[in-house]
Amino acid sequence: MARDTTKPAAPTSGGEAFSSSLPFAPEDVSRRLLFWYGERGRDLPWRRTRDPYRIWLSEIMLQQTTVAAVVPYYERFLQHFPSLQILAEASLDDVIQLWAGLGYYSRARNLHQAARQIVRDGDGSFPDQLEDLMALPGIGRSTAGAIMSIAYDRPAPILDGNVRRVLIRLFAWQEDPRSSRAEKHLWYWAERLTPDAQPHGYAQAIMDLGATVCLPRNPDCRRCPLSDLCRARQLGLSAALPVKRPKKTVPVRCQAAVLVSAGDKLLVMQRPPAGLLGGLWEFPVVDVPDEQPPEQALLPWLEQARFQQKVEFVGEIRHIYSHFRLKLAVCAVSLTGDNTPDGLPGEWCSAEDAPALPLHGAHLKALHLYRQRQHADD
Ligand code: ADE
Repeated sequence: MARDTTKPAAPTSGGEAFSSSLPFAPEDVSRRLLFWYGERGRDLPWRRTRDPYRIWLSEIMLQQTTVAAVVPYYERFLQHFPSLQILAEASLDDVIQLWAGLGYYSRARNLHQAARQIVRDGDGSFPDQLEDLMALPGIGRSTAGAIMSIAYDRPAPILDGNVRRVLIRLFAWQEDPRSSRAEKHLWYWAERLTPDAQPHGYAQAIMDLGATVCLPRNPDCRRCPLSDLCRARQLGLSAALPVKRPKKTVPVRCQAAVLVSAGDKLLVMQRPPAGLLGGLWEFPVVDVPDEQPPEQALLPWLEQARFQQKVEFVGEIRHIYSHFRLKLAVCAVSLTGDNTPDGLPGEWCSAEDAPALPLHGAHLKALHLYRQRQHADD
């Protein structure tokens, strides 16, 4: 059994002794991963830089989002905000605008706030200590570890979703992977395996292995450089791990979005800066109680807005959020003439410019549906 005495003390859980010995030498794992990464690692835009600002941005965008979705956003964001100072001076609206469509918008708000904090509190240079990174909004231990390793080439463990899955299989962790016991074990293993030499390459390698080989559903063990060390593979458990939590039933929320048009203008409003989808734009929206037709649910709203026009049901879209599913009825109210009435909350935007607004995903779908139907009627 290999043992490295410079590495952290093994965790104890509920007084129960925890085996600090690993079933393989940690250097064997990092050596294999580094070799594999040299041959098979992906060429990604944030891998052509060591600029901590750019690495930070990529790590924040990659939380909860795939590489393929992130690449165009990352490049566009950097064209607008090429440095930390420029980001700190930008308005939150401009930052949100460039994030629109990427989801989990608190990431954009935290990024902007963190940039301002760094510029305000320090000399403007990017923090290079784990604790200082973790003190910034939106940076947890794993993201801080990724920045330390990738930007500064200093060893710090990472435990994002991909690394978690690799470790769960490598050590055949057969319990609930979200428990605090799992958390302690996984961080311990992550720390033990992180090499002192080449932590930059190691970090990218283990994340890539999780993203391209040690896949959630069909792990491709034949291509895995760790396959003959992997406990899950030895036990025939690769596909069964990580153990799944019983599926929660996700609540369904029903709403109606009203596309109010006056000539070629549409009524839009901005959501408050804090909270779900903060700072993004949308059409007026009304909750639809269970079993009620959306046209009926809209009546009090129409009355309040003093609209006498008929509501037209355009169609329905579905959108999935992390904690609920949205069933959104898309309705249209067409005001006669080009006059945009005053006194309504919101702003009038030309239908042509609306797709360029930072509308949040469900309402962007609503707009596409509305425009499709309009063109079908033309
Ligand atoms: N996921 C999180 N960080 C990543 C990185 N630097 N490269 C690829 N995928 C990642």
